[in-house]
Amino acid sequence: MEKGRFDNPIEAVLVGVKELFTRQNNLRPILDTDRLDGKTALITGANSGIGFAVAVEYARRGAHVIMACRGGIPEAGEKVKKLSGSDKVDMMKVDMTNVHSIYQLTKQLKDRKIKLDVVVDNAGVTPPFARKTIHGLEEMFAVNYLSKYVFINRLLQDGTIPNASFAGNPLPDGQPRPRILFTSSDSHRNASPIDTEKLGIYEDYNPTKAIKLYGYYKLILNTYAVELSRRLNPNGRIDVGVYPLCPGAVRTNIIRDAPPLLKFALGGIFYVLFQSPEKATGPFVYLGAGPEVEGSTCRYLHMMAEKEMDEKVYDAEAGKRLWERSEEILDGL
Ligand SMILES: NC(=O)c1ccc[n+]([C@@H]2O[C@H](COP(=O)([O-])OP(=O)(O)OC[C@H]3O[C@@H](n4cnc5c(N)ncnc54)[C@H](OP(=O)(O)O)[C@@H]3O)[C@@H](O)[C@H]2O)c1
Repeated sequence: MEKGRFDNPIEAVLVGVKELFTRQNNLRPILDTDRLDGKTALITGANSGIGFAVAVEYARRGAHVIMACRGGIPEAGEKVKKLSGSDKVDMMKVDMTNVHSIYQLTKQLKDRKIKLDVVVDNAGVTPPFARKTIHGLEEMFAVNYLSKYVFINRLLQDGTIPNASFAGNPLPDGQPRPRILFTSSDSHRNASPIDTEKLGIYEDYNPTKAIKLYGYYKLILNTYAVELSRRLNPNGRIDVGVYPLCPGAVRTNIIRDAPPLLKFALGGIFYVLFQSPEKATGPFVYLGAGPEVEGSTCRYLHMMAEKEMDEKVYDAEAGKRLWERSEEILDGL
């Protein structure tokens, strides 16, 4: 991989802190009128960190919230109810390393005839050393990218997220379009171009490579998001909005698996300098509930600043190859 904006976990954290203190917002502040009444919002990885805070905020703003989680059932849901003052909160189980578990969740949603207005696909991991999933894939690749391809595409094929291209069940004209948000990272700018041939092939790595791979998988995620938007919204008519975003540096459990010394060093910075998950919910509320987002797609927020993503993300040929390679990987599981 090429030299990027940072080359190790400490540098990456320091870049995150610098961005928190030099941030330039170019969007309006979040308002009490950014509501989600009558909407159903599903959030993955909602039992911890950013996903949990978004679940509280969405429930507080009137949404029926479905927390799709591996752990924390039912405690996390009870906590969200208490903190938001809403009882329209459900939890559903899913393990994003296991495609069968993902399909089980999508089937349950379909069987219950649930229609999703907002999906925040947020679950993510940063294992410092490579780990294998039950399918023999590398876990960070599986959770941070492939699970999203599998989950979102199946929700679209099932019509659980109403849409014309995949399910032929678009919402009637004049009704707000569904919105798909991906918790990504500005570290996608740190990554080399996608090597489609090697994608999905298991390789060991160490903590220094882990931080580069993290940005690389977020580049892949953003490239998928743009390709998905192309396929959902041909001919310029917006049927479903797709929005990758970076919440900035947030004090969460994301470094839970780091080696003890590194965890100690990073932990101090996390707790003193990083923003709280509650503070990080701004871009999720703006993209999930903001009225001015209606009729748009592929808008990328880095905290409360709207930006272009790295130019590699918009390469249509790379998007097409990524889609085809993802299908091949799934066929081989
Ligand atoms: N923290 C930051 O500074 C930062 C910055 C930019 C982007 N992000 C992104 O924000 C997202 C959320 O991370 P976080 O910082 O809030 O960390 P976190 O507190 O560790 O939350 C990660 C969430 O993902 C879930 N998850 C992990 N593996 C899963 C699996 N196999 N199946 C189902 N759920 C799984 C976790 O569930 P369990 O509790 O069951 O493991 C947890 O709910 C990630 O995509 C991350 O890349 C974070």
